[in-house]
Amino acid sequence: MAEKRSSFTGKLGFVLATAGSAVGLGNIWRFPYLAAQHGGGIFLLVYLVLALTFGFALMCAEIAIGRKTGLSAIGAYKKLDKRFAFTGIIASLVPIIILPYYSVIGGWIIKYLSVFVTGNMAEAAQDGFFDNFISAPTEPIGWFLIYLALTALVVLFGVEKGIEKVSKIMMPVLVVLTVFIAVYSLFMPGAIDGLLYYITPDFSKFSGTTVLAAMGQLFYSMSLAMGIMITYGSYMKKDVNLESSVKQIELFDTGIAFFAGLMIIPAVFAFSGGDESALGKGPGLMFVTLPKVFESMPGGSIIGTVFFILVLFAALTSSISLMETVVSIFMDKFGWSRKATCIGVFAGCVALGLPSCLGYGVLSDVTVFGMAFLDFFDFISNSVLMPIVALVTCILVGYVIKPKALIEEIELSGKFKRKTLFTIVIKYIAPVCIVAILIFSILETTGVIKV
Ligand code: PHE
Repeated sequence: MAEKRSSFTGKLGFVLATAGSAVGLGNIWRFPYLAAQHGGGIFLLVYLVLALTFGFALMCAEIAIGRKTGLSAIGAYKKLDKRFAFTGIIASLVPIIILPYYSVIGGWIIKYLSVFVTGNMAEAAQDGFFDNFISAPTEPIGWFLIYLALTALVVLFGVEKGIEKVSKIMMPVLVVLTVFIAVYSLFMPGAIDGLLYYITPDFSKFSGTTVLAAMGQLFYSMSLAMGIMITYGSYMKKDVNLESSVKQIELFDTGIAFFAGLMIIPAVFAFSGGDESALGKGPGLMFVTLPKVFESMPGGSIIGTVFFILVLFAALTSSISLMETVVSIFMDKFGWSRKATCIGVFAGCVALGLPSCLGYGVLSDVTVFGMAFLDFFDFISNSVLMPIVALVTCILVGYVIKPKALIEEIELSGKFKRKTLFTIVIKYIAPVCIVAILIFSILETTGVIKV
């Protein structure tokens, strides 16, 4: 079986394909609003520290598990140790939870794109436009369905090769445009305060929630703790340098997230006259602020259109990899055809996505632990399930199969320079932090403690 598995042609192919899955709404939409909500510079600092330690060790571990076993999550955990088979199942639940709400946001992007394409940028830049849109009874559903259908079509026809080729052009354009808009934002009057807020850590704003949010974001953004990296690792050739691939993927992913923050946070300051409460907008931050930035730019209508096309593209490459994972789980498990599975997954996503879609409008009175549905699904996957998967993975690697087993796999393709860091993080630091954070997050959500 393992011999039949297709593989990426080389390092560049591997890094680009993995970065295509990793770079998505997580970087452009989620990172800036979380950074804004959780104290700016302190969040950025915590995120960077976690990325270089946790993120590095976990991504190495997951890719190595995939390459060693030649299997996707469900089979891989089972092969390493039968008692850990359940981890593969929990990991597979994560994309099932994320995909529907990811598509709701994908729908918002298409809506904005349509507004820009039809020359109605000024409308989108008005206060209240975003809130009115997401609280409308039916309109967000239509866009959500269009986005989901686009994703499903690609997965159905499996035009992955095409997508990969296009990624190679679109991704660099996205980088250039993000840097360009970020620089433009920085030159707006009042933006410097925002820049300072974003890059200067204020330690009085540090709390357990900061770490929890940063860790959830790390898993999300790097597509960790949900089996995706294991699957990608299983397609990786033994002679491709694993450690340096991980470094490049991290750099790509974190770089785009950093510039997305630069693009949005200083602009929020500029438009709100330095009012920090404007940063608490949460999921809406990108949709509320960026149209204003574009409106103030010469040629903003065109730049905005290109921007939303690229974001749509980055989101699609991610949701396609999410749906592909979900579809393959069901195909493997029940032996259904690709077509039937796609239709089934589409229907399931519609059902699961509708509450998220209506959660800010018709269903806004219904909350789960005080959160709208979309925020709840985001929370349960990022702050609960992913930490659990990461914790169990650390225990499995640290104490059952032992780090050495993976270090050997990693060293098949060159010296593993940071193997001491890898071992310490996997055995001690990660498990302790994750347990502390899980307990904290459960106490906080259930209202036992207040932050
Ligand atoms: N990492 C993607 C992002 O940042 C989200 C994603 C998660 C994509 C899991 C695929 C798989 O948007």
